[in-house]
Amino acid sequence: MNKCAQHHSDSITLTLMQWGQFIDHDLVLTPETPGVNGCCEDFRTVTTSSPDCVPIDVRGDEFYGSVGSTVNCLSFVRSQRATCIDPNNPNRETINVLTAYLDGSMIYGSTDTVATSLRSFSGGLLKFGPGSENLSCVQSTQDSCPRSFLPTRPGTSGNPEFFAVEEQPSLTSLHTCFLRFHNYIASLVNCNGDELKYQAARKIVGAIVQVITYNEFLPLVLGQNVMNDDFSYGRALSLDRSYFYNKSICTTAPNVFSTACFRFGHSLLPDKFNLPNGRVIKLAESFNNHDITIKDTSFPSHFLGGITLQTSMPMDQHITEAVQSFLFAQGPSFGFGSDLPARNIQRGRDHGIPGYVTWHNACVNSPYDIITSFDDLIGIMPDCVIAAFKKLYK
Ligand code: HEM
Repeated sequence: MNKCAQHHSDSITLTLMQWGQFIDHDLVLTPETPGVNGCCEDFRTVTTSSPDCVPIDVRGDEFYGSVGSTVNCLSFVRSQRATCIDPNNPNRETINVLTAYLDGSMIYGSTDTVATSLRSFSGGLLKFGPGSENLSCVQSTQDSCPRSFLPTRPGTSGNPEFFAVEEQPSLTSLHTCFLRFHNYIASLVNCNGDELKYQAARKIVGAIVQVITYNEFLPLVLGQNVMNDDFSYGRALSLDRSYFYNKSICTTAPNVFSTACFRFGHSLLPDKFNLPNGRVIKLAESFNNHDITIKDTSFPSHFLGGITLQTSMPMDQHITEAVQSFLFAQGPSFGFGSDLPARNIQRGRDHGIPGYVTWHNACVNSPYDIITSFDDLIGIMPDCVIAAFKKLYK
C-alpha cells in the first residue's frame, strides 16, 4: 500500500502505545486451541488435517518470496472453543482467560495460582529477581528502594526468563516499574501483616491503573469530545459513573474489542526504541530477549525514559516491518518472522468478526450515511486506502 495521509500529533509519545499493550494484557487473553501439531511449523506445508489449523498462505508474497528459504505459509492455530458450547449451535465462541476488569491483573495474575506464585508472602511484597538497577533512591529505605528486577524462572532453552513478560523490552520495563511500585506502596501502607499490606497496595495500584487509563490514556485515544460527552462516552464504554457496583452492566470484553478495536495499538509500534543514553534497540531484534533489560546500558529505566520522549507512530494504515515481517523472529540472523497484521485479519475470520462496513452501517443514524459502494467511503478514510481496497476486493 502506498504511503498516504497520516493523522498524527507529534506530542503523543510511545508511552501511549506501551500503556495500551500493558492494559490489553490486563483485560483480554484469548488462548489458542492446545495440542494442534503440523500447523505449518516448517513454513512449507500449507495443507493440514486439523480443523483448528488455518495457516496463512504466503505463496506469491513479495517479502516471504525474497527471504532465501522456502516460506509457503505461516502457522496459525484457531482460538480455543468455549467448552460449554451447545452441540446443536454451530456458533463457535472463544474464551477470555483473564479477568476483564481493569484491575491490574497483568501485574498480579488473573487466577489465585498465578497470584500466589508472584507473592513473596513477606511484608506484602511481590517477588523480585536477582540483581538490581542502580537508580538513585529518593525518600525510600533500602528495602523499598525501587530497583529490583522481575522474578525469573528457567526458560525452555535452559536460560532464565522473566516470570511475567518478555515479549518486548519496553513492556518488560513497564512491568518492572509496576513491580517496584507495588513493593514501594506496600512498604508505605500503614497496615499490619503481609496479607493486609499486599491487599492494600494491590487496591491502590489497581486504582492508579484505572486513573491513568481514564484520565490520560482514553482522552488521547478517543478524543476529548467523546470524553466530555456523557452520552457517547457512556454509550461507547457502557460506563456507569456511580460509585456502586451495578450488576446489570455486562463487564466482559466484547469479542470485537479484543479481536479488532483494541489492536489499533499495533499501528503505533516503532521499528526501534531510542534510549536516552543514545543506544538504539531494534524491535525486530528484541522479541522475547531476556537479556536486553538487565544490561546496564539498557535497563528498564532507560526504556521507560525513552518511551516518554520518543514520538509514537501514527494510528493509520501502516504497521512497522518489525511486526509485519519479523514478528517473533528467532534472533537477528533468522531473516523473517510471522506477520502480525495478517494474524489480526485471520483472527478476525477465526472469530467471525463482521467487516468494517457492517460495523459502520450499524452505527450510523441516517440512511444517507449507509455505505453501499467504495465511493461512499470517500471522506471516511484516505483515498489511497480506498484505492487499495478497490484493488483487493470486488
Ligand atoms: C511490540 C508490541 C506488540 C506485539 C509484539 C504484539 C503482538 C501481538 C500478538 C502476537 C497477538 C496475537 C495475535 C493473534 O494471533 O491473534 C496480539 C494480540 C493483541 N494485541 Fe498486540 N502486540 C503488541 C502491542 C500491542 C499494543 C500496543 C496493543 C494495544 C494498544 C495491543 C493489543 C492487542 C490485543 C487487544 C490483542 C488481542 C488479545 C487477545 O485477545 O488475546 N498489542 N498482539
